[in-house]
Amino acid sequence: MKDHAATAVGLSRWRAPQGIQTTTQDGTRRMAGAAKLVYDGQELELPIIEGTENERAIDIGKLRGTTGLITVDEGFVNTGSCKSGVTFLDGEQGILRYRGYPIEDLAEKSTFLEVAYLLIYGELPTKEQYEDFQHSITVHTMIHEDLKRLYDGYPKDSHPMSILSSMIVTLSGYYTDSSDPLIPMHREISMARLLAKTPTIAAYSYKKSIGQPFVYPRNNLSYIGNFMNMMFSVPATDYEVDPVIERALDTLLILHADHEQNCSTSTVRLVGSSRANLYATIASGVCALWGPLHGGANQAVIEMLSRVHEDGGDAKKYIELAKDKNSTFRLMGFGHRVYKNFDPRARIIKKACDDVLKKMGVHDPLLEIAKKLEEAALEDEYFVERKLYPNVDFYSGIIYRAIGIPTDMFTVMFALGRMPGWIAQWKEMIENPGTRIGRPRQVYNGATERRYQDIGKR
Ligand code: SDX
Repeated sequence: MKDHAATAVGLSRWRAPQGIQTTTQDGTRRMAGAAKLVYDGQELELPIIEGTENERAIDIGKLRGTTGLITVDEGFVNTGSCKSGVTFLDGEQGILRYRGYPIEDLAEKSTFLEVAYLLIYGELPTKEQYEDFQHSITVHTMIHEDLKRLYDGYPKDSHPMSILSSMIVTLSGYYTDSSDPLIPMHREISMARLLAKTPTIAAYSYKKSIGQPFVYPRNNLSYIGNFMNMMFSVPATDYEVDPVIERALDTLLILHADHEQNCSTSTVRLVGSSRANLYATIASGVCALWGPLHGGANQAVIEMLSRVHEDGGDAKKYIELAKDKNSTFRLMGFGHRVYKNFDPRARIIKKACDDVLKKMGVHDPLLEIAKKLEEAALEDEYFVERKLYPNVDFYSGIIYRAIGIPTDMFTVMFALGRMPGWIAQWKEMIENPGTRIGRPRQVYNGATERRYQDIGKR
């Protein structure tokens, strides 16, 4: 198939007369020119569309219908699954913007809840809008008492991501009267409940693991302060929310809030396209995020740094191991499918590491090891050639550790941050009248037709 296709198919870009473009309803521009596909004596013009940041794509919507051909692209390295206005990334420039606002601005000046509003509704809220949004979340932070009893059924050392995903999908059993994705009011209340209850569910999974009583949410605390109180307070003593930690966590959640069509968000879009309810859809995103190549990397980074530390802290030894194709060791927290220069979030988190640990008076040898590994990798041809740089997961665990969050809760923190991004991307998809159920094609490479043989004749 590959050889045949290679000779018969030629893709050339027909030089378009510049400047003639038509803007379509979804904000993309239809370029005047087209890509011309030549196959088996046929010529097919494939339209070129251009996004608002001048990214261009070939629209292959008519490809199979006119040529019988499909495209194959393992890992979707070259394939766009949708048009979206939520988040823009430029991997070469290290640019990340939520609804047009640079991540650096939002991390410095905004709050996680305000960023959640921005991602979901597309604009920064007015004071009144923000207060309404905040209230709609605050009044939903408790979970049903029956749901709390489900925690008794989990083994003590269950991974909190398994609890988070199952508790989220179980929420759909409590709200059967308001989880139709096609009804706007149901969408609004489901989004608010998810943003409100996820921190409670997460904190309870931690309390369960350490045998401490669950702490009810407190409406007089901020979103992050309430989470900290549910995580760290105990009935026997008073608990004060440390503003330094509160701000650090708020910033970390902002940095994790969305990241265009990553693995878990693409999962959310695919599951949501079947019109499953939002709880089931988000639970699928939690499961995808859990993988060590994705959100699970922040836990894997700390486990890796601890291994290097226990083994004497020899960064060079582990850089060599990461390059060795016979070793399964990878430099976790390094590399990215899109960022081929630097991950702007990693830069912000690395600086926050120094600030937070200094303010807390914490010295963590793992931070020094992380810096040594980064330094060694950025001077090594293997990493430079493959454009492997620290990603969002490389330093985030250092801060979580300093705050007292256990390693197996790190990916749960990522999920708390990513919640508004998943919701925003789902909302954009479900409200798009052009959305169809996601159903990729394949190239079959299995057995051709054959007749059934009785077992005695096999
Ligand atoms: C996140 O997509 C997103 O936006 C994700 C995310 C988000 O916000 O949603 O940014 C969050 O998931 C960040 C990534 C966290 N994962 C890790 O840190 C795990 C370690 N990194 C990798 O496994 C890898 O870099 C990926 C998964 C991040 C990217 O995988 P790709 O794009 O499929 O790249 P690849 O595995 O094909 O690697 C290309 C080459 C290979 O070498 P060659 O076969 O060409 O010789 O680079 C090598 C890989 O072996 N390589 C690494 C490496 N990452 C890639 N070698 C050593 N250590 C690494 N970390």
